[in-house]
Amino acid sequence: MLELRNINKAYGEVVALKDANFSIERGEIVALLGANGSGKSTMVKILGGSVKSDSGTILIDGREVKISSSGASRALKIAVAYQELSLLSRMTVWENVMLGHYIRGKFGLVDQDANREYVKALIAQFKIDCGPEDYPQDLSPSTLSLIEIIKAVSWKPDVLLLDEVTATLHHNEVETLFENLRRLAKEGMRIVTVTHRLEEVFRIASRAVILRNGVSVADVDLKKTDVDTLVYHMTGKMPEAVERHSDADDTGNAGDIVLNVENVQVGNSVKGVSMKIRKGEIVGLGGLEGQGQSVFLRSLYGVHPLRSGSVQLGGKPLSLNSPADAVKAGIGFISGDRNRESVFSQRSIGENIFCAKLSEGSAFSFVTSKKINHEAMGIVESHGIKIGKITDPISSLSGGNQQKVVFGRWIYESPNVLLLDDPTKGVDVAARAELHDFLRQAAENGMTIIMVSSDNVELLDVSDRIFVFYEGQIHATLTGEDRTEEKLVSAMMGMSAKEA
Ligand SMILES: Nc1ncnc2c1ncn2[C@@H]1O[C@H](COP(=O)(O)OP(=O)(O)OP(=O)(O)O)[C@@H](O)[C@H]1O
Ligand SMILES: [Mg+2]
Repeated sequence: MLELRNINKAYGEVVALKDANFSIERGEIVALLGANGSGKSTMVKILGGSVKSDSGTILIDGREVKISSSGASRALKIAVAYQELSLLSRMTVWENVMLGHYIRGKFGLVDQDANREYVKALIAQFKIDCGPEDYPQDLSPSTLSLIEIIKAVSWKPDVLLLDEVTATLHHNEVETLFENLRRLAKEGMRIVTVTHRLEEVFRIASRAVILRNGVSVADVDLKKTDVDTLVYHMTGKMPEAVERHSDADDTGNAGDIVLNVENVQVGNSVKGVSMKIRKGEIVGLGGLEGQGQSVFLRSLYGVHPLRSGSVQLGGKPLSLNSPADAVKAGIGFISGDRNRESVFSQRSIGENIFCAKLSEGSAFSFVTSKKINHEAMGIVESHGIKIGKITDPISSLSGGNQQKVVFGRWIYESPNVLLLDDPTKGVDVAARAELHDFLRQAAENGMTIIMVSSDNVELLDVSDRIFVFYEGQIHATLTGEDRTEEKLVSAMMGMSAKEA
């Protein structure tokens, strides 16, 4: 048994863990749950040796151990896939995976072939869409997450810690991952998984430990519990039934057409997409990983040029050479891929919130940092973002709180058209519900919203219409009664309506 007893950790004024307890047996899969900033990653990092606890005891099979470094953690056969990806861009996939424990041959030289073969086998087992020689910058966020996982698995640990690794994964990738995890657990591995996708928890874990403000408030048998109870432990409140979004007119016929997309092609990944979107509509773009939906969304933000086809915004042709053009045209973009796209990690929380306004140009160039911080503080308060000081670097926030800053930025900006790519990745249930409410309200006030999501529940909950992408084209459009999980999943697999 691995056991943590009375673990305390504070970062300056912020208490991350308070007398927290946790335990896991051989062969068990346990979910570690809690709202954003509740201390989950801190607990994972303490076990991984990258953060030191202030006090408390860690026991393995009854024997007390000290984890003073990541080397010490590895020596205890603990491996971690971290929430913020740790892959190095100048190294190939196999080098990244094997870093720190390369297989060596004669004279201690790295045996390239042996390493490559070992990683290739892991890639095949986890069905990852890449080769051992690829570089991280050419791979999608979900592929990178999977590589982060096999990197941890490659150590053949006794304890495997997975911090929000499914946040970017798509339906089929999650299924394959879970099959692998069940196999590893059967072989005796202890697996701890951190996630905000609560439906997933019941499928993969047998027990859940829940943190609230750094305190371990519950340890529950998942066979005897339901989602509402988990949310209750996380928040201290019973969840209220959320009204599912229903639209009197789901057909998209009525109202002014704001965005008219005609036969758009982008690179080789979007092959002739057309759609008419009206003012105040929430459109969801679904599909398995890499079916063109994210590339299409980014083309509407000026990230990728159109190869052919046209886009009209408010009846006028829209021609974008860069995201700055999109912002000027009243288009906003929220990306869940904070690592690469959304967060200026060297900048303060205040600057991160205010940057969209600043990018609008000259009218705002005179704003003082005092004003920035004042306005930003308003947003932090209204969205319940858990921070120390507004001038702290954004990197001091927990993953989910960083993402809330990204929302805050665009909610403040209030563009006419808001594009979102997996926006609630890593965001807890309560904040997710808040963002969804915001989207519904903004849509009612006339904002037009287009959202890509890897999370089917999210797509079904908020979209008026769902366009399902398959191999670069729109394979199905789901409206009204057709917006069911079954129909969505079948369409994602490329099945026709009859097969479904
Ligand atoms: N390096 C740091 N410096 C200062 N504060 C920190 C640091 N790392 C974490 N914190 C704070 O400690 C608290 C717990 O953070 P932690 O990352 O453990 O949360 P979490 O449960 O993983 O949240 P999330 O679901 O958002 O990832 C948060 O309030 C966070 O802001
Ligand atoms: Mg975290």
